[in-house]
Amino acid sequence: MQGAVFDLDGVITDTARYHFAAWCQLAKEKLGLDLPAKFEIELKGVSRIDSLKKILEYGNMLDKYSDEQIQDLAAEKNGYYLKAIEDLSEKDILPGIPELIDQLKEHNVKMSLASASKNAPAILKKLGLFDAFDAIADPSKVEHGKPAPDIFLAGAAAVDLKPSECVGVEDAVAGVQAIKDAGMTAVAVGDAAELGKADTVVPTTADFSYDLFEKTFEKAHK
Ligand code: BG6
Ligand code: MG
Repeated sequence: MQGAVFDLDGVITDTARYHFAAWCQLAKEKLGLDLPAKFEIELKGVSRIDSLKKILEYGNMLDKYSDEQIQDLAAEKNGYYLKAIEDLSEKDILPGIPELIDQLKEHNVKMSLASASKNAPAILKKLGLFDAFDAIADPSKVEHGKPAPDIFLAGAAAVDLKPSECVGVEDAVAGVQAIKDAGMTAVAVGDAAELGKADTVVPTTADFSYDLFEKTFEKAHK
């Protein structure tokens, strides 16, 4: 393993729940919709606009909104989200992540970020982790969002590695699909029943380690 390509929300910090809470607020206040809790899994890893389109489709109202209205609603959701993460700081880094970063550095493993979030650089700064990463792939520069592999391919390329030399790290079904379709080894955190396409699934980020990543990589390349 020469590289580790990370998702952000739900992997490095627990912002996944704030994304969903912001969508629920937007759906209720602006669309008159109650989103079922199980919708959270479907939206994880999915870009801002694609998430909104999924919600409008769920409410059978996709054709009622113009592109401009869709942009406005997405901006509104981002406002709720930014308010919720206003006070995000180092204490919001998920357990095991600082240790994992140290171990990867010790073993000269390059690290890049492959988040769908346009807020990713600002969030890494709030967490004090901006300088820990060798590169951040820009989601606005890739053609297709997760579950397409584009952002993970960009994450590997950003540190001059082939996807086959990297492990991808995710908490989302769409993200694991993206990693596998990029030709990378996948380590996932969360529910094994949902994330079964990954090469390894662990229940929490505290289970992450260089050894776990390396063993998963070796096994996938046997
Ligand atoms: C992903 C989240 O990391 O980023 C999604 O899992 C979110 O929930 C997506 O929609 C886009 O984020 P942003 O910050 O650009 O709205
Ligand atoms: Mg995620």
